[in-house]
Amino acid sequence: MSSIHKIGVLTSGGDSPGMNAAIRAIVRTGLDCGFEMYGIHDGYAGLHSNDIVKLSRHSVSDLLNRGGTFLGTARFPEFKDPKVRQESVDVMKKIGLDALVVIGGDGSYMGAKFISELGFPCIGLPGTIDNDIAGTDSTIGFDTALNTAVSCIDKLRDTCSSHKRISVCEVMGHHCGDLAACCAVACGVEAVLVPEVPWTKDEVYASIKNGIDSGKRHAIIVVCENQTDVYQMAKELEALIGLETRATVLGHIQRGGTPSAYDRVLASRMGAYAIELLRKGESGRCIGVKNGELVHEDIVECITKNKHAFMKSTYDLAQVLR
Ligand code: F6P
Repeated sequence: MSSIHKIGVLTSGGDSPGMNAAIRAIVRTGLDCGFEMYGIHDGYAGLHSNDIVKLSRHSVSDLLNRGGTFLGTARFPEFKDPKVRQESVDVMKKIGLDALVVIGGDGSYMGAKFISELGFPCIGLPGTIDNDIAGTDSTIGFDTALNTAVSCIDKLRDTCSSHKRISVCEVMGHHCGDLAACCAVACGVEAVLVPEVPWTKDEVYASIKNGIDSGKRHAIIVVCENQTDVYQMAKELEALIGLETRATVLGHIQRGGTPSAYDRVLASRMGAYAIELLRKGESGRCIGVKNGELVHEDIVECITKNKHAFMKSTYDLAQVLR
């Protein structure tokens, strides 16, 4: 039997579409189970500064279809300091919280790991557009960000084709090529550059030139962020191939917007599952979805594991279909 009465929820790190749907599910499921529910503003920063409010069913109305996170989020490097972590747990104990649900990416999971190591029950939900969390096939927000990026690249294709141009388009992903590789398959682009697969400019440029020489009206290269300077790449391609070349950085547009139906359902399922796990006395676990089933695993194992299989097979498919 669980000894939990009051549960806090926070969102941390980069926001992602569907975070609101997750909070709503956590709050409403928790209230249905008889818990008191609390929202923590601005991630671990708000936890440390005791910026915490009680939430009702009404507090989470009209949020399901809204991007971002109504609780606010922040990156809070100070949480690496053990003293700050202990002070944050003390804040929760002082106001009578018994458990915490953290929605965020790998940095946020690290914080959740520390909290559970201090003996405070804590569950993690994967909220990031990067899809770079090993314990799940899909993170909350990835599907929406992918659809946003695909819709932008489709538009670039229209104008590139009209003008007989080359387009170099940078997408997010941090150090994970999932978003780029999925864009490559969904948009049928000529080349995709991801951190997990080595590439050289010579090879990429030769393959683009080959396509143009054999009659293509345009070419699109999708580049995962942190790979290269896309503006410089555009200049080099234009000089080499003789076709006008433009660079586009999609940037934070990919993080906003109405969550897709898939992300809303995923976030809602995961949110409700977090409460189920806390009721069963689980802690230090992170939630995922694998082959459609909700799963949970040790947060430390999840942070340390690599996640390349999906990216690699998607990347390989993009090479065959281009
Ligand atoms: O982790 C999500 C993410 O959007 C990454 O894709 C990107 O590298 C980073 O956050 C951008 O962070 P910021 O919002 O701090 O510029």
